[in-house]
Amino acid sequence: MTFDYQVKDLALAPAGRHQIRLAEHEMPGLMALRERYAGSQPLAGARIAGSLHMTVQTAVLIETLVALGAQVRWASCNIFSTQDEAAAAVVVGPGGTAEDPQGVPVFAWKGETLPEYWWCTTQILDWPGDEGPNMILDDGGDATLLVHKGKEWEAAGAVPTATEEDPEEYQVILQTVRETLESQPQRWTTIAEGIKGVTEETTTGVHRLYQLHEAGELLFPAINVNDAVTKSKFDNKYGCRHSLLDGINRATDVLIGGKVAVVCGYGDVGKGCAEALAGQGARVIVTEVDPICALQAAMEGYQVARLEDVVDKADFFVTTTGCKDVITAEHMLAMKDKAIVGNIGHFDNEIDMAGLARVPGVQRTEIKPQVHEWTLPAQGADAPSGERDERSIIVLSEGRLLNLGNATGHPSFVMSNSFANQTLAQIELFTRPEEYPLGVHVLPKQLDEEVARLHLEALGAELTELTKEQAEYLGVDVAGPYKPDHYRY
Ligand code: NAI
Repeated sequence: MTFDYQVKDLALAPAGRHQIRLAEHEMPGLMALRERYAGSQPLAGARIAGSLHMTVQTAVLIETLVALGAQVRWASCNIFSTQDEAAAAVVVGPGGTAEDPQGVPVFAWKGETLPEYWWCTTQILDWPGDEGPNMILDDGGDATLLVHKGKEWEAAGAVPTATEEDPEEYQVILQTVRETLESQPQRWTTIAEGIKGVTEETTTGVHRLYQLHEAGELLFPAINVNDAVTKSKFDNKYGCRHSLLDGINRATDVLIGGKVAVVCGYGDVGKGCAEALAGQGARVIVTEVDPICALQAAMEGYQVARLEDVVDKADFFVTTTGCKDVITAEHMLAMKDKAIVGNIGHFDNEIDMAGLARVPGVQRTEIKPQVHEWTLPAQGADAPSGERDERSIIVLSEGRLLNLGNATGHPSFVMSNSFANQTLAQIELFTRPEEYPLGVHVLPKQLDEEVARLHLEALGAELTELTKEQAEYLGVDVAGPYKPDHYRY
């Protein structure tokens, strides 16, 4: 069988397959779903366009979707997050060879340029034959954005012209859509009409979906996978607790104990990051805009401060906000010598890298891929010695999410929770569309509890069972759900 794909090197597939095999052992939720649905094939007929970090764990997700009957095309949702051996193994497939690949078309490699990234995203929406995709599985919302923008501009009869102030990425999107429209005038309308729905993985992508829906512009129903409890309260928190340190260590190997670390944002991701850094013995300072999260940080014993007031005292800075312009060029100019700066939020606009690059006299040195030293110009013309101030800071993954750029993202067990939710969300949207009208939905709590149950068993945890009388007393069913929808965990 031949099919189109674009990955770094298919010779990496055996290494990827070994890692996938070990990951399967750590992903009991996904493997249980494979077993449960092997016979009924609920995703038969689904043509899924997937845009999510192409890691070993994602390989297990992709092969689960295929085991449930789906056809899949895949791209990564970040230019640095692909594990090339995983991408190769998915293309080759469990039974194929590099000469005769039998797996899934993947368009992803570590270190894409922005035009390459958006080209890869168009490839997952471009299916051979007459039929396009009918489902999107998204992380951060780029595939969904492309379909919405493509249709909007197609309907308007023209793609807007970029101005110089537009961010580089927006200019690339405009160009990508312009090129596709030249060859296929009705392309985006046709793709949009074929999509039954999207399941969205992360906080930032979910924000985009709610904004689209509020503006009356959402084109198809969506399931917010992020806000399944077994996703955001596990992946965002415990996943980042693990992979933040992995990223910092692989990038720098600088001792964290005894140092001062600033965590910007104390939501689910920030909580995991602060705990990880404190666990290494760092003194953690949190910045927050939300008084509730700020109070939570204070109750955990962290100092809560404004970035401006502590920027010259910290050794590590991590942004976790999903907001923009959190660390500005001005902040970076005021940092200590060799301060380490990284972002773990979804997009690269939390740290103003473009602003830093524009500072006159700043110099960028590549220490190794995804680790750059930025030598800062002297502060003020008259340093007492009259000499150049040789301060520099270290920026990880060029401001993109460092746990996937400098390391390999979250470990398998936590991703098994997230991806079991993704799989169930795809099944729900694809097989029961009448339950999910246009809008943004969360998964039923029963399914959330089911995902947790699958993983508890694997850890050897024994759950207490309610008696019938106890269940009546609490007003719940013996089999759950155990909490009302407004419960916050
Ligand atoms: P969240 O909404 O729970 O937390 C973000 C926190 O940042 C909020 O408490 C908010 O009040 C605070 N915040 C917003 N603007 C701020 C500012 N200017 N200064 C200080 N604090 C500010 O979101 P969550 O789930 O923690 O996700 C954060 C980001 O991480 C999102 O972009 C999400 O998509 C991404 N994410 C990344 C993962 C990874 O593996 N790298 C995994 C999961 C989520």
